[in-house]
Amino acid sequence: MKVETHVDLSSSLSFHVPALATHYVQVDTDEDVRDALLYAQRNRLEILILGGGSNMLFHNDFQGLVIQINSKGIHVLIDDGRRLEVAVEAGEDWHEFVLKSLENGWGGLENLALIPGCVGATPMQNIGAYGVEIKDVFSWLEAIEVSTGLLKRFNLKECKLGYRESVFKRELKGEWVIVRVAYRLDRESTLKTSYGSIENEISDINKNELTHLDVANAVIKIRNQKLPNPNVLGNAGSFFKNPIVKEADFNSLKEGYPDMPHYILEGGLVKLAAGWLIETSGWKGHHRGTHGVHEHQALVLVNHGGATGQEIWSLAQDIMLSVKEKYSIQLEPEVNQISMSTT
Ligand code: EPU
Repeated sequence: MKVETHVDLSSSLSFHVPALATHYVQVDTDEDVRDALLYAQRNRLEILILGGGSNMLFHNDFQGLVIQINSKGIHVLIDDGRRLEVAVEAGEDWHEFVLKSLENGWGGLENLALIPGCVGATPMQNIGAYGVEIKDVFSWLEAIEVSTGLLKRFNLKECKLGYRESVFKRELKGEWVIVRVAYRLDRESTLKTSYGSIENEISDINKNELTHLDVANAVIKIRNQKLPNPNVLGNAGSFFKNPIVKEADFNSLKEGYPDMPHYILEGGLVKLAAGWLIETSGWKGHHRGTHGVHEHQALVLVNHGGATGQEIWSLAQDIMLSVKEKYSIQLEPEVNQISMSTT
């Protein structure tokens, strides 16, 4: 384990904004994680866990130890010929794991193809797309406690996975480092194609011949059309969460905006489309020189080149204010904001 100082993080961040870490270390094993935590404790450094850097916006430099998880390994723990449990080290690239699982004929992850980031981040915010969330395929995860170095296994219930939420973003924030995740896969899992755009993409394939790979290819095609590739145009996917409101509030909004896209949830709640709210507030394709709002998906903020994290955050705040003024809805960022007071 080698701690480096004053390391430029920008190439590890999908937003490609400038950010230095005063201390930085890459870890490959659980032992490395423990050593890094001890180093931070002894030197009284704040820590930040970095996976693929695809869901973070740095507002400024980080004074502390950035621990980048680089562990690799995919292990089949159970295989009864149809169903499997597969444990994956946190530093594995998510999409590469999805492709590997498809090559092996393992179903369950096809709707989650092409999501940027590492395996360790997938339960952190219960990533989801095209009708599937990590919680649908999650078995357990193992994490190391920051204060003690102990390894603990968390089951589904303990992780409290919700819409882009988990216990690690709430009650246990900053207390655990996720080191591996186990998924339940199934060679014969039912294909989930009800999301409208998937149906369109697969319409010319015979339903009886449809495979997990066909669904993944449809998802990859849709994502490539709608979402900018972070290697080409800096971004962190959806910048905001889709807001969830009470049915009564939705009903009064619907009177003024009958076309408002919405999804009825349990418990008298309704999920609205942040992309629609932002687009109809006039922001889609908005350009501020170095940065702006993506032209095909208003939920995605982009760095055209040379933007700082603070500039992008300032645009995000302007969008939140304008949606609040028009619809009385407070948008919440989905991307983690990394901001340190510089005093
Ligand atoms: N919409 C607009 N304008 C836009 C974008 C969307 O009017 O600029 C409308 C669409 O017409 C549609 C509705 O909003 O009626 C929903 O749009 P879409 O299906 O594109 O999905 P989304 O709600 O915008 C969510 C996830 C995405 C995920 C897609 C597909 C969140 C915050 N975002 O986006 O996740 O890929 O569904 O399942 O839940 C991510 O988290 O980074 C991400 C890309």
